[in-house]
Amino acid sequence: MAVTNMKSFTDYTTLVTAERENRANFHTMLSCVLPRPIAFVSTVSADGVPNLAPFSFFNGVGSNPPAIIFSAATKADGTDKDTINNLRAVPEVVVNVVTYSIKDAMNQASFAYAPEIDEFEAAGFTPVPSRFIKPARIGESPVQMECKVVDIVKVGHGALSANICIGEILCFHIAEEMALDNGTVDVEKIDLVARMGGDWYATMRDRFELPKPTEGGGDAL
Ligand SMILES: Cc1cc2nc3c(=O)[nH]c(=O)nc-3n(C[C@H](O)[C@H](O)[C@H](O)COP(=O)(O)O)c2cc1C
Repeated sequence: MAVTNMKSFTDYTTLVTAERENRANFHTMLSCVLPRPIAFVSTVSADGVPNLAPFSFFNGVGSNPPAIIFSAATKADGTDKDTINNLRAVPEVVVNVVTYSIKDAMNQASFAYAPEIDEFEAAGFTPVPSRFIKPARIGESPVQMECKVVDIVKVGHGALSANICIGEILCFHIAEEMALDNGTVDVEKIDLVARMGGDWYATMRDRFELPKPTEGGGDAL
């Protein structure tokens, strides 16, 4: 089927990353790659201190085994965030989803608390024991994924470089009021939020359906 209402652009502003500051590239990227889902990540330190932090450089990346990735940037002073230090000591993580009703407390948990602070307590969340791993789940999040860390891949070095955590999902916990019989989540009910650029967020309250193409062959997921 020919699509008739598409416009082809002729003039572009081209920003060559190698000629720009890292921070400028960071802000451009945040405004280009969006909306981004948010992994609200629960880890524990070597001493057992619980830590929470949201990461929007996040996605599901495979199903054999089911796997996720998220990335925590190295800080301006060249040190790593508590999440990455924790994962090197205890390679286990719970990825909790973020709904509209927990957005403010999630935002509070993004504050750079000292490593000895229990961030469940600091941000007002309820820790729920995990089935397979040490870090606790966030009781106020309707979907939690317990993961074991397969690898942490470093891209670049110094401030703003990426530390990509690859996690294998051991189990999904789905709040019963949002679970469908086929093992998926009711998107009408879950009311997730996503990150945009700056301080902007998006909801998924506006949706549309686009059936897969029937011409051209292939094996669409
Ligand atoms: C919605 C949201 C998304 C975020 N995404 C990222 C991200 O993808 N990568 C990152 O390094 N920091 C991200 N941050 C900032 C971290 O959450 C913040 O640096 C946090 O203090 C890290 O905690 P930690 O030191 O306990 O690991 C995000 C913050 C918010 C509020």
